[in-house]
Amino acid sequence: MARILLGVSGGIAAYKALELVRLATAAGHAVRVIQTPTAQRFVGAASFAALTGAPVLVDEFERDPARGAFPDQAPPEHDPLSHLELVRNADAFLVAPASANTIAKLAHGLADNLLTSAALAARCPLVVAPAMNDAMWANPATVANVETLRARGVTVLEPGTGRLASKGEAGTGRLPEPPELLAAVEAVLPAATGGPMDGLRVLVSAGGTREPIDAVRFVGNRSSGRMGFALADEAAARGAQVTVVAANVALPRNPRVEVVDVETAAELQAACEARFDDCDVLLMAAAVADFRPAAAAGHKLKKDEVGDRLEMVLERTPDVLAGLAARRRPGQTLVGFAAETGERAVDYGRRKLRAKRLDAVVVNDVAAPGAGFDVPTNEVTIVTADGETHVPLASKTAVAAAVLDAVVALRAAAPAPGSVR
Ligand code: CTP
Repeated sequence: MARILLGVSGGIAAYKALELVRLATAAGHAVRVIQTPTAQRFVGAASFAALTGAPVLVDEFERDPARGAFPDQAPPEHDPLSHLELVRNADAFLVAPASANTIAKLAHGLADNLLTSAALAARCPLVVAPAMNDAMWANPATVANVETLRARGVTVLEPGTGRLASKGEAGTGRLPEPPELLAAVEAVLPAATGGPMDGLRVLVSAGGTREPIDAVRFVGNRSSGRMGFALADEAAARGAQVTVVAANVALPRNPRVEVVDVETAAELQAACEARFDDCDVLLMAAAVADFRPAAAAGHKLKKDEVGDRLEMVLERTPDVLAGLAARRRPGQTLVGFAAETGERAVDYGRRKLRAKRLDAVVVNDVAAPGAGFDVPTNEVTIVTADGETHVPLASKTAVAAAVLDAVVALRAAAPAPGSVR
């Protein structure tokens, strides 16, 4: 549970901030909202007030009926300056959506409204989620402002690509989806001390490998890395020291997570092998190619050179997870992922648990609606030697939390989790 201060600036995407508040409060966080005057043209204060259970502030000179307290706190006896008291109480300050104008003000230290004044006074981690027209995002002024903020340690999220607010326009500038916003805030929260993952070294693999056919083409898969990154964020938020071996993942980076970028199964294997002995927990969420072209051309294949048919021989890649499991040491907890389709998904998962000598397999029915590749939600069954836990369709953040709960339970139950079951 944390106290999250949300600053909402002007933009169509302000409506997504309502969903973020709903998710954050459902996750147990206490939320207070500051809006800029322009933001109120898009979404009214009454909606935020109803969802947070606390007054919304806009004007610097307006009295805060809650006197700077969050919904889980009793208001102080005195009447403090609301923006100073709010940021003092906050564990993290998220600005979402952050307009180009607000980003410029934050970069230059302007304090001309309650949101920017509060940001200037904030000592807690600041997360900025931009949302704007793609030309504004690409403008060198915005690029420089974002660089300035990042250089100061502010987490500026990458906006998404797709349809923008203006009719018919598409490009980069979309506000990240609310579950991603929540994960980004949770990732910067000060680590809970004494938590069950405090100090644990967690190695995660994420994304999907690409196996070259020639200098420009590859055999790949649809994994986006969302599940692996959600696991990494959640483990870091629980106090773990996290490294992600990321195969072709184009998602925003969490400053509290070390990321090692790889492309192929062979690179992923080398990166995981180099780090495995030092880790306490391995979460193997990457979709590793099972086959790769036996001979990749070093140049771009020309149609003339190939003719009417291109026949390719694919060879098996090494099973990275099985290789790591074969050299596991006592005290390590190994979790595999199984992308399956159909009714026998859980049976296949259980078979993998035994064959690869794992502590848990997270079975993912990739054919189920809302589950699997490149969607923000997932539905899984966590299979262990002792039974199965079904996690109904939920955000990948929530699924990651369930997987880590299972890891914590496994480690608590087995004094020597490395013992092969
Ligand atoms: N894995 C691996 N190295 C590979 C292939 C998979 O480490 N070359 C890991 C994945 O990261 C995942 C688990 O093994 O944790 C998936 O097991 P796998 O048997 O490869 O699943 P599928 O590819 O679904 O296998 P199959 O098609 O045989 O069911």
